[in-house]
Formats: sequence, C-alpha cells, structure tokens
Amino acid sequence: MSNEAKLLIEGQEHVLPVTVGTEGERAVSIAKLREVSQHITLDDGYGNTGSCLSNITFIDGEKGILRYRGYPIEQLAEQSSFVETAYLLINGELPTRDQLRQFSEGLTENAYLHEDMRYHFESFPVTAHPMAILSSMINASSCFYPGLMGPANVERLPIHATRLISQVRTIAAYSYRKSRGYPIIYPKKNLKYTANFLHMLFSQPYEDYELRPEVVKALDLIFLLHADHEQNCSTATVRMVASSQANMFASAAAGVCALWGPLHGGANQAVIEMLQEIHASGDDGSKFIEAAKDKNSGARLMGFGHRVYKNYDPRARIIKAACDSILDKMHIQDPLLDIAKLLEDKALNDSYFVERKLYPNVDFYSGIIMRAIGIPVEMFTVIFAIGRMPGWISNFKEVVENPKSRIYRPRQVYMGATQRDYVPVENR
Ligand code: CMC
Repeated sequence: MSNEAKLLIEGQEHVLPVTVGTEGERAVSIAKLREVSQHITLDDGYGNTGSCLSNITFIDGEKGILRYRGYPIEQLAEQSSFVETAYLLINGELPTRDQLRQFSEGLTENAYLHEDMRYHFESFPVTAHPMAILSSMINASSCFYPGLMGPANVERLPIHATRLISQVRTIAAYSYRKSRGYPIIYPKKNLKYTANFLHMLFSQPYEDYELRPEVVKALDLIFLLHADHEQNCSTATVRMVASSQANMFASAAAGVCALWGPLHGGANQAVIEMLQEIHASGDDGSKFIEAAKDKNSGARLMGFGHRVYKNYDPRARIIKAACDSILDKMHIQDPLLDIAKLLEDKALNDSYFVERKLYPNVDFYSGIIMRAIGIPVEMFTVIFAIGRMPGWISNFKEVVENPKSRIYRPRQVYMGATQRDYVPVENR
C-alpha cells in the first residue's frame, strides 16, 4: 500500500504523506497543506482528526478493542490493579515487584494535603458540586509546590505524577465530606490506594469504615477501567493545556472541567438520574426508549453511544459482569438494574439504536455499582476523574517529553460578518 495520498484541488495535485500506526491505522498528514495549497481541513468535533501520535492506548472501535500499552483491557481487569495499571500507563511497562512497591509507597507518603488546604475547602458552599471543588483544589494545590510553576520540569515529573494521583483521591474524599458537613478524615499509612479512599470517604472519627474486599475490588476495577481512553474530550483538553507549557496540575484541573459535562464523564451521574426518573414514573423503561428515539422529546438514552465504539464498549461488558457479581455478593436487589437491563435489551433489538450503532458504554452500569457501595450520585464523575488521572498524566508526559512538541492551535473557517464600518452609538 502506498505511503502517500494525492489530493486534487482546483486542478492542482498535492502529494501528502501517509503515516501508518503500529496497528495499521493510516492517516493522511495535512500539516503542510495550507502552505502549499492555501486550504485547511474542516472537521467539526474532530471526528476524523488525528491530533497526535501516541504510544499509550489503542482502541479499535469497530472491533470493540481497548488496550493500554498493548495489554488488553480484559487481561488488566482480571489480573492487574489500578495502581499497577497507573504505573504501566505512565511508564510504558509493567512494574517489577520492587518498582510497584516503591510507586505504591510513594502514593501513600504523598496522600496528605498541606494543612492550609483545609481552609480552602471551608470556603465552598455545601451545595457546591464536588467536580467544581475538585478542579479548583487541584489547581490550588499546585501553589503549594513552587517547583511546579513555570514550564514543565521533566526531571520532577515522576514525583508530581505520584502526588497528583495520590492527592486527587484525598481532595475527592474531602470534597464529599465537606458537602455532607462531616469532619475530614485523614489518610491511613497502612491502607492501599482504593481502600484508603473508601476510608477517607466513609469512616467517622469515632468509627472506622468496614472495608469489605469485594467493595474495594469493585471500586478498584472502576478506577482501572477508566484509567485511559486515548483522545477523548478531557484528555485532548489536558494535552491542549500542556502544549502551552502550563504545569501538570493546571492541565489536570482543565481535564476535570472537560470531564464534568453530561456527554462525557458526567454521563454516569446522568444515567442514574435517568434510571431514577424512569423508576419514579412507574415506567419499566419501555416508554423511555420511545422518548429517546424522538428528537423532539429532549430525552437521550444516557450511557449509550460512543464516538469511537461502533460495536460494543469492552469496558461496559466487564462492568456489567462486575455489577451482577457485587450486587449478588452484597445481597442487593436494585430495581434500577432491572430497568437498565430492560433498556439495554430493548435498545439492542431496536432499529433506531442498531442502525446508529448505539451500545451501552462504560457509564451505563458503573453507577449501579457505585450506588451499591454507597457512593452518592454527585460523586460519580469524581470517581471517573480519579480513575482517569493516570491517563491524563501519561498524555501530559507525552506532550512535554516530545522535543518536537508545538503549541496546539487549530484553525477555523470564519463565517461571520465581513468588514464593516463602526457605527457611533447615537446612530444605531
Ligand atoms: N440516545 C439516543 N440517540 C442517540 C444517543 C443516545 N444516547 N447517542 C447518539 N444518538 C443518536 C444521535 O441523535 C444521532 O442521530 P441522527 O443521526 O439521527 O442525528 C446519532 O445517534 C449519532 O449521534 P451523535 O450525537 O452525532 O454521536 P457523537 O459521536 O457526536 O456522540 C456521544 C457520542 C457519546 C456524545 C453520544 O452517543 C451521547 O450523547 N451519548 C449519551 C451520553 C453518554 O453516555 N456519554 C458517555 C460517553 S462514554 C464515557 C466517556 O468516554 O466520556
């Protein structure tokens, strides 16, 4: 197959190089197109634009494949842990036993926030959404590390990465405690990453939260399944901010904001709210499916559809099985799970969803697991953010370590008013 493409514009032929990825993905490089032809490309929503070369995550949306650094998500979900997967994403290789121990100890040692950060938490209203608190506090915590300011410091990257992965969990737990008016619970040295998070979230000063292994495992799996997903909206945002040489914490805070929206990470909250509404209305899901197909109804089947997956989101398959397992182990019968399964069944047999290749995505069943664990709905997207942090950091690292990195700066096709003369206010 040729490694060049030809483009004919107004009778003139332009030869464009084709870049081939390690999995055979082919991309026509248009970097010089404007220079040679005075044309740019237009791709609203970036659906067909490769914004970078990346070694981190591979997705084949047609076949339903997801791999982190070459390892299939199914194998990692079965055999790895969130912390090990975070190491893999950031460093490119699975850790040895010693490397994993050191990384894990680093996370424990860096779990504490600077004590002055407590005063920042106090100034948020109790009604503040935890995602607002999370992005503000990640940014605020960069002020406590003067070495972070200025252009990214490649040598200090590992320690900043460890701090951020560890502290996002502490900040998340504190923001929940704040929203409930509960006292802050400090991290414990003897607890591992996910168990420590549950402890900070649910323990009380007078009583430690009982850590059930199946609960710790289920939440760890949710973190792992969210750990990276190539150039999604929030990761692309992190890379965009990083490309201006903003620091890692500022770039990650921007990622949190992008993740918040209901079409992205906010979908897990929107799914449960949708299921609750369906349940409260007495519908089993049948009426809602009809509304979701009607463009005038304003309803969308949240947790369904994906820009890249046109088969089945492999994360959804793993999470659905985990959902059945944890509910069974905890002896919980959640009517929302019945509604979710009926919605999925109906959608998979409905031409509207089949023709548009709309399948459950990672957010469809994750909320039911989090509900069973006792995590409040407004914290769901925060859980996604904790999980996605290693992916954001790996992408940040790829940008700052690339000696050829340039500031991200897309172009546009201007469709506004052409030149006109200013009209003084008395004449308008
Ligand atoms: N319910 C009903 N119709 C849908 C849905 C849905 N969930 N998703 C897409 N469609 C329809 C859409 O109306 C359009 O129909 P038509 O061709 O007749 O105009 C067609 O399917 C294509 O949709 P699109 O909005 O152009 O697709 P997109 O690639 O721009 O959007 C999406 C992808 C995920 C934003 C979208 O499917 C959606 O809004 N899903 C619900 C929100 C959700 O679950 N988001 C989480 C995504 S996975 C986690 C993450 O990575 O963030």
